[in-house]
Amino acid sequence: MKALVYYGDHKIALEERPKPTIIKPTDVIVKVLKTTICGTDLGIYKGKNPEIESGRILGHEGIGIIEEVGTSVSQFKKGEKVLISCITSCGSCEYCKKQMYAHCKDGGWILGYMIDGVQAEYVRIPHANNSLHRIPESIDDEIAVLLSDILPTGHEIGVQYGKVKPGDEIAIVGAGPVGMSVLLTAQFYSPSKIIMIDLDDNRLKLAKELGATHTINSGTTNVEEAVKEIVGGDGVDVAIEAVGIPSTWDICQKIVKPGAHIANVGVHGVKVDFDIQKLWIKNLTITTGLVNTNTTPMLLKAVSANRMDLKKMITHRFPLSELEHAYQVFLNAAEEKALKIIITNE
Ligand SMILES: NC(=O)c1ccc[n+]([C@@H]2O[C@H](COP(=O)([O-])OP(=O)(O)OC[C@H]3O[C@@H](n4cnc5c(N)ncnc54)[C@H](O)[C@@H]3O)[C@@H](O)[C@H]2O)c1
Ligand SMILES: [Zn+2]
Ligand SMILES: [Zn+2]
Repeated sequence: MKALVYYGDHKIALEERPKPTIIKPTDVIVKVLKTTICGTDLGIYKGKNPEIESGRILGHEGIGIIEEVGTSVSQFKKGEKVLISCITSCGSCEYCKKQMYAHCKDGGWILGYMIDGVQAEYVRIPHANNSLHRIPESIDDEIAVLLSDILPTGHEIGVQYGKVKPGDEIAIVGAGPVGMSVLLTAQFYSPSKIIMIDLDDNRLKLAKELGATHTINSGTTNVEEAVKEIVGGDGVDVAIEAVGIPSTWDICQKIVKPGAHIANVGVHGVKVDFDIQKLWIKNLTITTGLVNTNTTPMLLKAVSANRMDLKKMITHRFPLSELEHAYQVFLNAAEEKALKIIITNE
């Protein structure tokens, strides 16, 4: 089968690999229908995760058809269309029992990281009973891909951890697919102002179409001053970091009012400065985390009721055979006007 393989810093190749087989009775093999490239994959490509073994097939987002089922898989059968969660979970360990699937003792984020992932014609999914979701007929295949990772990530780690409430004034730093997912799911809770901050004017324009009330280009504007002009001198109720670099963390800690929440969603590769000498007095709550995907069933229902304009997030489509080129397009997202790229396995 064709698969996108990681060989270390800035080295990937689309090549022939053996089709995966069932290893444990709880596994299934899925024939991938659609997958995508995540900002996290770009991070891997750029060397943010040197812990990943050379030879690993990347990818943790996608949908497919069940091809083969292990003997103890009770919830799914051959031929069913399924959403692959980016988080694998056993359903019975200490963390799974608390719905903290991200920290499953025999799972968590392993796909396209610790085990071979979904940027391939076939993928082995461990603990299939708990790690797959049936896709309602009313959900379009391309939209379903957005539920593997980015929508639950934006909702859980951005909006829920950030405790977005009706009337809140919130800021989202990073208008990538994850930041846009924060933007869309924040609107379930009716914040009064949503300020989107990014360097890419094209993404900021789309953010306006998806519901942002204000946008700020942090490359050309003093963000602190601009935010305070919009919401007043104290700052925002919630700041959500959806980039994963020191300067965007810094924006978040500078624009929050007393009692605010800072929800960090970005995956960071280096340490940041935390201005505790200014912030100790502010009664802030700071949250971090990896998506648990515990709200995926809820989001599947919201999406099937057509509550969000998700199609606008998909800017490019490529066949699996052009996956290497698709990486280059996503790496040059600003010039290519790319947001979410859908890869189809014909
Ligand atoms: N916590 C989790 O569970 C989880 C899950 C998935 C992804 N992530 C992380 O979320 C982050 C965003 O993912 P994505 O797919 O949207 O990535 P992306 O790379 O597509 O988007 C990042 C955005 O940040 C903007 N940006 C870059 N530098 C900036 C700066 N200095 N100021 C303002 N904006 C800047 C870019 O223009 C881009 O629009 C990544 O770090 C990713 O690894 C976290
Ligand atoms: Zn992802
Ligand atoms: Zn578990």
